[in-house]
Amino acid sequence: MKFWFVFGFIVSFVLFCNCSKEESRIIPEQSKFEVVEPPLDFQLSSVCPPGLNFEKGFCVIDYRYVQSLEKNGGLGQTLAQVKLDPKVIDLGRYLFFDPILSGDKQLSCAHCHHPAYSLSDGRKQSIGRDGVGYGPTRKNGVILKRSAPSLWNVVYMKHLFWEGRASNLEDQAEGPLYSPDEMASSPEVIESRLNENSYYQKMFEQAYGKKRLKISASLVIDALSAFERSLVSFSSRFDKWSTGDKEALNKEELLGYNIFRSFVARCAECHPPPMFTNNVFATIGVLDSKERDFGRETITGQDLLRGAFRVPSLRNIAKTAPYMHAGNLNTLEDVVRFYNEGGGRGNGAPSDLRIHWHVRKMGLSEKEISSLISFLNTLTDETSMPKFPKSVPSGLPVALEIESYHNRSSIK
Ligand code: HEC
Ligand code: HEC
Repeated sequence: MKFWFVFGFIVSFVLFCNCSKEESRIIPEQSKFEVVEPPLDFQLSSVCPPGLNFEKGFCVIDYRYVQSLEKNGGLGQTLAQVKLDPKVIDLGRYLFFDPILSGDKQLSCAHCHHPAYSLSDGRKQSIGRDGVGYGPTRKNGVILKRSAPSLWNVVYMKHLFWEGRASNLEDQAEGPLYSPDEMASSPEVIESRLNENSYYQKMFEQAYGKKRLKISASLVIDALSAFERSLVSFSSRFDKWSTGDKEALNKEELLGYNIFRSFVARCAECHPPPMFTNNVFATIGVLDSKERDFGRETITGQDLLRGAFRVPSLRNIAKTAPYMHAGNLNTLEDVVRFYNEGGGRGNGAPSDLRIHWHVRKMGLSEKEISSLISFLNTLTDETSMPKFPKSVPSGLPVALEIESYHNRSSIK
């Protein structure tokens, strides 16, 4: 009797325990976002999202440094002006939140780039196909190799994905849409579903004009990309300070900024304002948990670039934990301590990595470490956070309704 009891316990443990798959995780503080009831018939909006200005029929990115450049010199940086059609942005927003684009109608872009987690998912590594739920508590399903970056200011990124394998948003979108481990869809599936949906037919007409009666996958990607280009973040306290509001940062934060741009910490060499990235690839020696990630080397074949990744932007960085391509650093304090110890040099990174010469032991004091973290916290601005549509044209459950995902058979 006792034997069977113990035997049964062991068998059920082996069968039902998913423990090896389960990662340790922290649940980051959630960002604020609005959930809105869509208008009747999903009429598209001709109003620009917050943070973008309406000029002659288009939404134009309101980039503070462009203004300051004219007024008082600014930081000597200027960015290309981007004009977007408000209706195309709004169409892209519905597509982004609609699981209709995925093969099994379960997964939307927003499941992994969720407003609650500042357009990332709060996970070490994202979970793709066959997963349940969204954000840090998403479970089961295919565990992807890397962590999901947030999408803030992707409009100004010269390379996309951690190792930069795409150079524009249009090429990038084919990654998640058609990868069998992620949304597992195809252009044919997307086109036949959307062309059969009378709401989407009208919405594409509104956005692109009556002549384009057939919805193509490239038009879908065009709308998604316009929406992504509207996700800008340029009005943080740091931006206010750097454009003349000297009260916007306190003494500790300014000390932090001075450390950030000092020759000791050298953060600003790779993460220079205003984007807080120089858009190039660098090896800092982040440790991979299981399989090694060779990063940029896999694209260029150069062993000099082994383990190199595109320098990520630090905009909204306080909101997008955990950090790094491997999602292995849980907090900003972990990140700063990692750098302070010499990055990979001080943390046992493999000896075949050519770690960048700016990443060295720094010897920052506890006060300097906390000031640097305070400074990183001034880069938060979620003014352009997209509104979450309570329902989408397909009628499928959006990434707010966890419960309905348990009843998969009800979704055809
Ligand atoms: C299953 C989770 C998941 C889904 C669904 C998903 N993504 Fe991602 N996304 C990721 C991960 C993980 C990465 C990083 C992958 C890499 O670098 O190899 C990423 C990277 C990106 C990037 C590059 C950002 C940068 O800074 O380099 C963009 C843009 C993006 N995704 C947009 C989208 C869009 C649009 C959709 C929907 C069509 C989508 N994603 C669906 C997880 C996801
Ligand atoms: C040599 C260039 C370089 C320097 C110097 C540098 N970084 Fe980075 N930083 C990177 C790269 C590359 C990554 C991504 C590495 C990865 O994922 O493997 C990164 C990642 C980060 C991240 C995580 C971003 C995210 O979205 O997950 C933070 C935060 C960060 N750096 C802050 C700093 C701070 C603070 C300093 C100064 C102490 C600094 N960096 C110095 C290149 C650099």
